[in-house]
Amino acid sequence: LQPKLLLGRMVLITAGPTFERIDAVRGITNTSSGKMGYAIARAAYEAGAEVILVSGETALPTPVGSRRINVQSAQQMLNAVDNEIATADIFIGVAAVSDYYVLNPSEQKIKKDAHILTLELGPNPDILANITAKPNPPFCVGFAAESENLLEYAEAKRKRKKLPLLAANLVQQAMGREDNELILLDDSGETRLTRAPKLDIARKLIAHIARLYDAEQTA
Ligand code: PMT
Repeated sequence: LQPKLLLGRMVLITAGPTFERIDAVRGITNTSSGKMGYAIARAAYEAGAEVILVSGETALPTPVGSRRINVQSAQQMLNAVDNEIATADIFIGVAAVSDYYVLNPSEQKIKKDAHILTLELGPNPDILANITAKPNPPFCVGFAAESENLLEYAEAKRKRKKLPLLAANLVQQAMGREDNELILLDDSGETRLTRAPKLDIARKLIAHIARLYDAEQTA
């Protein structure tokens, strides 16, 4: 049995990929399976929290104890998060959000012809940045998926996004896999969670978050 470190807290989590529509049948997405975010949702519930899981399309069952809100695009994910954020004590952004969306998606299936097809992309809103810019934001945890220079890029991302905690992972060793390893970056330095099944990693991450959250509350 896990200790109830987050009893009475509301934890809002994003998970999985986003999907940006190109036409009636195609879209831009990524290979996030949702497993890391869903494991964190389960671990947060085990720790006594009320959990809301805003999820892109995945093949996974809803984790026990979570209220799940299904979304497709980054904009829909932002709207769903915005609707729930006011009552959240802790926000954890695990979703792999598309940085761009298709400016003019086609209602109909685009037909093939001999021409080069150009897609125009516009930048998506940053869900995390949107939350940290609010007057009284919840305790915010970001993830960084990098393919190289993990520590350097992740620390820069933590500073830029003004996050008390960022969990860094190498994308090729994290996305879609059953296990993961994380480097947790916060004001007191780095903590390494060595490779283990995602639920084990999630439980350690939740314990770390609970410690920092409690310290912030009593400061
Ligand atoms: O789903 P799995 O297969 O289990 O894989 C897990 C994972 C690799 C997807 C996960 O562990 C992970 O690293 N998630 C974050 C992936 C990511 O998009 O990272 P990023 O470095 O691009 O984004 C940084 C942070 O900003 C993330 O918390 C992200 O959710 C958030 N973000 C990014 C873009 C955007 N428009 N809005 C955001 O809120």
